[in-house]
This record gives sequence, C-alpha cells and structure tokens, in this order.
Amino acid sequence: MKDLLRTQDLSRDDVELLLETAAAFAEDPLRSKSALANKSVAIYMTKPSTRTRLSSETAVAHLGGTPIFIRGDELQLGRGETIADTAKIISGYCSALIIRTFAQADVEELGAHASIPVINALTDDDHPTQLLADWLTIRENFGKDIDGRKFVYLGDGNNMSHAWLIMGAIMGAHVVAATPSGKWAPNAKVVEIAKNLAAKSGGKVEVSHDPEAASKDASVLYTDVWMSMGDSESERDEKVLALSPFAVTENLFSLTNKDSIFMHCLPAHRGEEVAASVIDGPRSVIWREAYHRRTTIQSLLFHLTKGDLKGN
Ligand code: CP
Ligand code: NVA
Repeated sequence: MKDLLRTQDLSRDDVELLLETAAAFAEDPLRSKSALANKSVAIYMTKPSTRTRLSSETAVAHLGGTPIFIRGDELQLGRGETIADTAKIISGYCSALIIRTFAQADVEELGAHASIPVINALTDDDHPTQLLADWLTIRENFGKDIDGRKFVYLGDGNNMSHAWLIMGAIMGAHVVAATPSGKWAPNAKVVEIAKNLAAKSGGKVEVSHDPEAASKDASVLYTDVWMSMGDSESERDEKVLALSPFAVTENLFSLTNKDSIFMHCLPAHRGEEVAASVIDGPRSVIWREAYHRRTTIQSLLFHLTKGDLKGN
C-alpha cells in the first residue's frame, strides 16, 4: 500500500499496527526521531485546518523531517498546471504528500501520479486520518473487546459519517450513523461498502433516522459540525432544521450506557450539534481524541514511508 486515499484502503492489520505505534509515540514522541531525517513532507491544503495541519507538521518534526506547508492558492495548480505534473514534481523533492481538499477524485489522481505516499487529510467524502485518532481513543477507553458495544455517529451524513461507518466495519464493530433521511443521509455506495466490510469482519453497519433508538445503550455518541467546509450557506436553515433532532443533548446522552463516552472530531459548535454540558462534561474525551491526531499521523507517516502497510 503506497497511499492512504480512502479509509477503506486500510486493512484491520494495518489499523492494529498503526494504533500500536501511535500509542508508543504517545509515550515517547521522539522514539523515531531520525526516521525522516534530511527529508521533507509537503502538506497542501485548500480548506482551513487547525488540528490536522498542526498535528501533521508536529508529527513530521518529531520524525526528524521538515514539513512544508502549502496553501491552496500557492501552487501553480491553481493556474492550470495539471495534477499529474504537480504530483511528479512534489515526488522529486518530498518523501510524502499530505493533502486536504474538496474532491476525492483529485486526491486519487495525485496518488496515481505521485511516486511518494499521498495521505488524504480530509475531502468532501472522507477523513481517514481522523478515524485513526478516534479508534486509538476508543481503545484507550474500552480496550480491544468491543463485543456487544454500539458506536453511534449522529448528525450530517457527511465525510465523517462515511469514515465512521467504514472504519467501524473494518474493526468488526457495531456502528450506526443516525442522520436525517434524504439528502443529508450518508452516501448509499459508502454504506454498501461498509456493509460488505462488516460481513467479512464480523461487524454490523446500520443507518438509522431515529436518534433516540440509535443512542439507547450506545457506548459512544459521536458528532460533527452541521455545516461542513464547502457546504452551501443557502441551505443552512433547511439543514439545521433537519439536523436539530440529532443534536447530542443531555437527554440523548442519558439514554447511553453507564460507561459511554462523547466524541467529536472538532471544531465544535456548542448549542448546535452538541450541548456545552455534554462536550465539556466528564464523559467527553475530545481533548485526548484531538491529541491523538498527532500520534496517529506520526505513526501513519512512519509506517507508510517504510512500506509497512499491506492495504485491503
Ligand atoms: N478534526 C479536524 O480535522 O480538525 P481540523 O479541521 O482543525 O484539521
Ligand atoms: N465535516 C467537517 C469535518 C471537519 C473536521 C468538514 O468537512 O468541514
């Protein structure tokens, strides 16, 4: 496996290896401080980022490399140079390329033309690196035995809901996406891929439109912003109305298991997708989850640049 373009590229063994190494990087960030010595990693983003940008730059630094951050408007790509030519040029200088942008197809084209690893750091369709941090956080709370546990995402059927279902299916978990029906439900093709993965892993994938039923006895309630980067502002009112029943309120959270946790990829909007009392409450693990963005991206860069991942 050269690239991480989509969450579904990862095998269960790959995830296990990545989480184990990330846990070690959490203990000692500098344990592989020469892995990328004298090398550079390009980080190209056409959308804003706080966590992914800072954790990626820090991860490269901890591996002894130099991160080169490039904003969307800073490449000749924006002036008509092709993705294929850009991929070949960056491959000549850097050891990996981390990209955040709109179209999944652009990331896949970059991967096809680059000889170095290309890592998807969020597209409109997927957010694979976030799920590595999420699953390390889940492991820290529940251990490896997740039989009988239900992991529930509530809200927009967006990139996060897709990654949640796919990664849960890879891990053999019972995962649920509770979203409105219709245009804010997860993509049907992604749900089918997740169901096929779950059939092999022993997991279970469900899409629900009933937030109470989904939350009942859950081990995790996870949510994301209602308006994603690139979403049309003209749809805001209609979307907020449709998503309101899926807000993680005290009431919804009270339906979950006694040992349940609250998760959020962040950024958060308190009073919209989640109540302040839940996200800032004792069962929220958001700070540890955000911390693991660095440990897991560090692990991913470490293993991907060594060719250790096998893929699905
Ligand atoms: N969770 C996440 O990807 O955050 P940023 O948009 O700040 O990178
Ligand atoms: N769904 C959000 C995730 C942000 C990390 C977005 O794409 O903006």
